[in-house]
Amino acid sequence: MSTKKSQDNSVTASHAFLWGAATAAHQVEGNTHNDWTLWEREHADELARSAMQQPDEVREKFPEMTCRENYLSGASTDHFNRYKKDFQIAADLHHNAHRFSIEWSRVEPRKGVWNNEAIKHYRDVIDTLKSLHIEPVVTLYHWTVPVWFADMGGWLHPHAHIAFEKFVERMALAFPDVKFWITLNEPVRFVYHGYLEGRRPPGRKSIFLLIRALHALVKSHRLAYAAIHKRCDVAYVGIAHDMMDLHGIARYIVRPLWNRWFLNQVQSSLDFIGVNYYFSQGKSEFYSDMGWRLVPDHLESALMEVKRYRKPVIITEIGLADAADKHRGWYIASSVQAMKRAMERGVDVWGYLYWSLLDNFEWDKGYWPRFGLVEIDYKTQRRHVRSSAFIYRDIIDSWHE
Ligand code: BGC
Repeated sequence: MSTKKSQDNSVTASHAFLWGAATAAHQVEGNTHNDWTLWEREHADELARSAMQQPDEVREKFPEMTCRENYLSGASTDHFNRYKKDFQIAADLHHNAHRFSIEWSRVEPRKGVWNNEAIKHYRDVIDTLKSLHIEPVVTLYHWTVPVWFADMGGWLHPHAHIAFEKFVERMALAFPDVKFWITLNEPVRFVYHGYLEGRRPPGRKSIFLLIRALHALVKSHRLAYAAIHKRCDVAYVGIAHDMMDLHGIARYIVRPLWNRWFLNQVQSSLDFIGVNYYFSQGKSEFYSDMGWRLVPDHLESALMEVKRYRKPVIITEIGLADAADKHRGWYIASSVQAMKRAMERGVDVWGYLYWSLLDNFEWDKGYWPRFGLVEIDYKTQRRHVRSSAFIYRDIIDSWHE
């Protein structure tokens, strides 16, 4: 795969389309210790209790949602130890790209102290992917931070961006061969849940704190962008941005804030835009297990909305919780059609990464939502490839024909 930057710094692609799936460290690795781990311990009981208010048919389908254990990430899928086998599954499904995140709390467990074992682990992860001809797409912040960083005030600390920059610099030094970097995952959704709604760490409820955290993330991204480019000649650096398909009045009020504000702030420090697409206010007869409307067609409008930035785009997440695997196949197929239409209308899409390769820990919902192409039996750690994963494989194959 080769990508070239022309003199005006715009990027031209001359590489294979990236097809694959995404994960995030805290959701799959197992036994992570970070700000979320602490938050889960504090909130598991309350989350299990509040699930009692779910309608009967939902509780009957997912009885685990009323148990405390559902809300503790614990051993998760044990991907930290099983990544080789998991990547082999991805390779067998003809994936040629994989997005994962580096767990900051593992590589810098104390401020300024680097854990070389952990760095070596991620070196092996990257090398394994490469040996399977799978392009690594590396996320640096996927919503978890080391406890020491949270204790100093997290993103609200006046020097938070410097701490993040140091971590990023160390990673860029360790992995100069990584081509695709994502500095931040869904910064807007993160600050919304964590600083305004208060239903995720750090559990604050203030518009002023939300604004401060957002500005810290803008600064952090810009520094991280420069740090990666200082160390890696081959790097393409972006963020994974949550794009919502909004209708009616929300289109005028929420959309500029949610979909555009952050991109506007960082656009001069982006080599590509990662689009995460889940939410649409469009019409649908079908819903995911989490009650989200299934409107894959509207991925087209989400992609058209980022066209204005004139950057390459990678769909860094798209997916649904669907334990019965009833909807996943057609959802993927329709969303790929929607992506094609956007490409025909001039959006330079470089890749499609399904969320997720594996069932995993869905944050404050815990383990009951099943997003994986691969089903996990959490008791035995057995992997079972869902039928939709083969539908996706066939879509990938027909793209190359
Ligand atoms: C996040 C993932 C999450 C997925 C499904 C995205 O907002 O990046 O971590 O699991 O959505 O909710």
